[in-house]
Amino acid sequence: MFSFFKSKQSKQNRIIEFLSNQVVVDIHSHLLPGIDDGSPDTETSLFLIEELQNIGFKKLITTPHIRMEVYPNTPTIIREKLAIVKEAAIQKGLKIELEASSEYYIDDNFTELLQNEDIIPFPQPRYILAEYPMIAPLMNFEQRVFEMTKRGYTPIIAHPERYRYWHKSPEAFARLKDLGCLLQLNILAIEGYYGPDIKDCAKYLLKNNLYDFVGTDLHHERHLGRLKKLTEMSKEMQLLEKYDFKNKNFFSNS
Ligand SMILES: [Fe+2]
Repeated sequence: MFSFFKSKQSKQNRIIEFLSNQVVVDIHSHLLPGIDDGSPDTETSLFLIEELQNIGFKKLITTPHIRMEVYPNTPTIIREKLAIVKEAAIQKGLKIELEASSEYYIDDNFTELLQNEDIIPFPQPRYILAEYPMIAPLMNFEQRVFEMTKRGYTPIIAHPERYRYWHKSPEAFARLKDLGCLLQLNILAIEGYYGPDIKDCAKYLLKNNLYDFVGTDLHHERHLGRLKKLTEMSKEMQLLEKYDFKNKNFFSNS
């Protein structure tokens, strides 16, 4: 009876244990109010941030979109919103650390921002979270990577498993690593949120040790619900738990 109770308890807490001990820092989310397709207002931001704290994270590096035609954000806008949310989080008594960078859509506009050094990279080191088109690959993606690395930035490719055009040529992922990119898994890909083919690709990348980081890419409460569901998925949790993600490196107290 006791062991049944114990196993049920640990099963319930499995995602919390994984996030609080092995991940610690979420490096991809959309939690700043009203500037992209994530949180619409400060109240929602605080709710999502508190939930992420409750589920085990000790620090969030949130990453609003910068994509000029759709989300024309700037480092100034992002820093201003971060300051508002940080202050509100302190007032609410939240302990979680908050920082911000951006998820950059890689296009000609991004190249211009790079040339002007108008970038909000990760605080330390100079990482850039980079998003590629979903429908078709960039013709010159190697050149785009080089544009970043020659300026001393290291690209973190956001959710590579979601780029279906590479599913049939997975050597592209190893090529990105050879070019100096780091790869970030969307944790909900393993839960199956984006579909079975994307889950299979994420498993392939895990098994071949090609990921460096994991992120929630959290936009709203539905994502939170699916994240919590992972606790009941023993095989998927095992895959995640045995992987050596590097997120903790962003946590100063670790
Ligand atoms: Fe994202």
